[in-house]
Amino acid sequence: MADLSSNFLGIKSPNPFWLASAPPTDKEVNVRRAFEAGWGGVVWKTLGEDPPVVNVNGPRYATLFSPDRRVIGFNNIELISDRPLQTNLDEIRRVKRDFPDRAMVVSLMVPVNEASWKAILERVADTGADGVELNFGCPHGMSERGMGSAVGQVPEYIQQVTEWCKKHTRMPVIVKLTPNITDVRFPARAARAGGADAVSLINTINSVMGVDLDRMTMSPVTDGQGSHGGYCGPAVKPIALNMVAEIARDAATAGLPISGIGGISTWRDAAEFIAMGCGTVQVCTAAMVYGFKIVQDMCSGLANFMDEKGYASLADFQGRAVPTVKNWNQLNLNHVEKALIAQDSCIQCGRCHVVCEDTSHQAIWATKDGQRHFHVNDAECVGCNLCVSICPVPGTITMRKLQPGETDARTGRVIDGSYQNWTTHPNNPMRAGCG
Ligand SMILES: Cc1cc2nc3c(=O)[nH]c(=O)nc-3n(C[C@H](O)[C@H](O)[C@H](O)COP(=O)(O)O)c2cc1C
Repeated sequence: MADLSSNFLGIKSPNPFWLASAPPTDKEVNVRRAFEAGWGGVVWKTLGEDPPVVNVNGPRYATLFSPDRRVIGFNNIELISDRPLQTNLDEIRRVKRDFPDRAMVVSLMVPVNEASWKAILERVADTGADGVELNFGCPHGMSERGMGSAVGQVPEYIQQVTEWCKKHTRMPVIVKLTPNITDVRFPARAARAGGADAVSLINTINSVMGVDLDRMTMSPVTDGQGSHGGYCGPAVKPIALNMVAEIARDAATAGLPISGIGGISTWRDAAEFIAMGCGTVQVCTAAMVYGFKIVQDMCSGLANFMDEKGYASLADFQGRAVPTVKNWNQLNLNHVEKALIAQDSCIQCGRCHVVCEDTSHQAIWATKDGQRHFHVNDAECVGCNLCVSICPVPGTITMRKLQPGETDARTGRVIDGSYQNWTTHPNNPMRAGCG
């Protein structure tokens, strides 16, 4: 059976599944139950003390549903922990003592001054916690007070606070990044420059969930008014995965450990983040929607996958997908695919025909001999994949790669197997040696 254990910055956990800093980790009773259910670690709900935290008591959460009412996006305007700091610290000490094999990381957010960070770090170290995560990501409420994403959006602040933390604690320091920036490589580089042991990402994305068209207010509202909140859940996974990939393949942050967060709901999501370079993964929305026991399916699913693929440990596939992430100008323009429709499983719904005809390349045509049949015209197909994306029967439309020696019916070019990307393409006026 595959070994799921992880060792992230020297912090050991029996599996890579940690609960992200959020309501599931905000008090002893939750975290004990989480550990009993099998979670490998937690990042305790963000602690701070100064100034005191007061949350709204109207709706804090809002939801984006799929048509079958599954939660695909989730939004919140909750602040950091509003419970007394000492209560949290006492609870952290007790839980860590009773679950020594689980990762106990404490998330922190205090104003940008060295004395505040020094003071809270000393108190956290005293609990026996394994590490700290600096919350430079929260995009609502705290950012208006110059904390959270207000720090995470300024690389110089990230570097400065990380340096203070490294100076004042021996615990590993994880810097949690905000996605509310243009290029995530800059804050990640700043974290590394400040001495961070790792980065974690993503925190939530700024969002307004909707508009109540009867009351003509944004949604959700507290006493008729609302404020932008942090977006998370399955819908943000592609954004998180891209940001993880950008950091994993950036030479300036090469080797910097990453804890992946954002929309992770299944073992498969987790495996994708690990293949993209993450050493652990963190989960929030899925636990809030389905409860703590989902970790059991996550562990067994990941172990089965690893057994099937022959991976004995997480290290065997961690980062394996990173070298496949390239800039567009490095892609092979000599690679040609054509759609192929399997007539035996096609249900003749015609959706591929409609979308290709109306919005793509008019490459799917219909014949009628009592029943409708749909066919691909290779002379028009550009291999865009839209028909595969909308076909309701998985596997019915596939993409076939043209082999060397075959002629592309659209361009008349013979596939010769040679590699040519945009950087070297004859149509690129900027290519080396041109002009
Ligand atoms: C209600 C709620 C409260 C959160 N509170 C915190 C927090 O205190 N500190 C923090 O770093 N992240 C906080 N987060 C963000 C999560 O830790 C996580 O980064 C984000 O939700 C993305 O993961 P997910 O898609 O699995 O939910 C919160 C998220 C939610 C939904």
